[in-house]
Amino acid sequence: MGDRKLHSPITHHLSLITYHFMEQTYINQLSAHVGEEVTLKGWLYNLRSSGKLLFPQLRDGTGVVQCVVFKKAVSEEVWEALKGLGQESALTIRGTVRADERAPGGFELDVVGAEVIQAAHDYPISPKEHGTEFLMDHRHLWLRSRRQHAILKVRHTVVKAVRDFLDADNFTLADAPVFTPAACEGTTTLFEVDYFDDQKAYLTQSGQLYNEATAAAFGKVYCFGPTFRAEKSKTRRHLTEFWMVEPEMAYATLDDVMNLCERFLANIAARVLEDRAEELKILERDTSRLEAIVPPFPRLHYDDAVKILHEGHERGEMESRFEWGGDFGAPDETYISSKYDKPVMVHRYPAAIKAFYMARDLERAELALGVDVLAPEGYGEVIGGGERATSLEFLREQIALHQLPEEAFDWYLDLRRYGSVPHAGFGMGIERCTAWMCGIEHVRETIPFPRMLYRLKP
Ligand code: 4AD
Ligand code: MG
Repeated sequence: MGDRKLHSPITHHLSLITYHFMEQTYINQLSAHVGEEVTLKGWLYNLRSSGKLLFPQLRDGTGVVQCVVFKKAVSEEVWEALKGLGQESALTIRGTVRADERAPGGFELDVVGAEVIQAAHDYPISPKEHGTEFLMDHRHLWLRSRRQHAILKVRHTVVKAVRDFLDADNFTLADAPVFTPAACEGTTTLFEVDYFDDQKAYLTQSGQLYNEATAAAFGKVYCFGPTFRAEKSKTRRHLTEFWMVEPEMAYATLDDVMNLCERFLANIAARVLEDRAEELKILERDTSRLEAIVPPFPRLHYDDAVKILHEGHERGEMESRFEWGGDFGAPDETYISSKYDKPVMVHRYPAAIKAFYMARDLERAELALGVDVLAPEGYGEVIGGGERATSLEFLREQIALHQLPEEAFDWYLDLRRYGSVPHAGFGMGIERCTAWMCGIEHVRETIPFPRMLYRLKP
């Protein structure tokens, strides 16, 4: 904390209180300090004045608190420095904590001293409306805004809920590499990079194939890291770099995966409701939609999902008639999920539109034992997963059929040579899940620095 001197030529010493020996109190801990004098360290969020009174609002990353400065309660220097201070100036404020029901957050600070660490001028993001492109260009600053702050706090809780849930359920974290020798999820969305000695490497699309190896070593595993898709699509659901959590279980089937999906998503929603009530309020989230996320979730065969689309077409609610065998587009997913107020698990898609590693339905070989979990409210697919093929011969055929280089998969095929068992798992995109929890339009706001088709900066 404050044992290191932060003094620099631009530091203004405005009170006898010097920075380095003041203990820091955080705004979200003020309730434990009512009546005490504390030091807050943060940034100026807003400043109002009225005669001999100043009302600086300070934010410190944990919250925002209104401070009250009486001209006669502070030195002349402090008054003068605070008076004209610009938004997002860095400062420490010392004062007495007072409980006040009318104050946002329930507390105010009666100021006795302050120290300006850096005076900022002309902060580019003002309370007026800015366009999305402007805000995305200033993402490094936009993160400080209330709404963005709330969204990323929800993301934090989603990640924490995911880890706590899997850890408590006997899963072992075994992370997968980012540089990989071949495609996992189709060759059309691969990012190629130059590796040493004229070799090509690809940024991982999914850690799944490695999960299958670690699952045979540990039983139940998960990997959790950044994944990459060279998606040329400019939709509200697609990033080129996103974080995926992927659990994988040995001795498990498609049904086991669907059971896990239910418990997993219900747990995330419950944790977000419990730990992020304030943020959900800031985001004006209809929390009844999150309260509805409890098992069991409806399970819908692909054939029946297609029937729903056909009925929609007959009613004039879906423009074109969906062809059996195709993959669902965003409007199809939205229509199917609009029939339910819970996530719906669509299973047994045509194998032809799914990845090479999917196990087949023994009763209908043209169907893959895969599942997509479609979130309600138009959020679309948040989870994709299923049961993996176990036969060496079958996988060899599939690798050839998908025109994948067999030599890059020899290690993977070893898993079918040595102790091959039914196994299954899924992947969930953290950003899609967070957007759904927050009830926001676009995934770009759910990651600190989004990477998209036309966005590599900041
Ligand atoms: O359905 P996907 O492609 O499945 C896999 O990669 C499997 N190998 C996972 C597994 O079984 N271990 O991707 C899984 C999830 C999607 O449901 C979605 O939530 C997210 O990853 N996702 C994306 N999120 C943001 N931007 C993109 N471009 C995404 N592509 C997939
Ligand atoms: Mg998918």
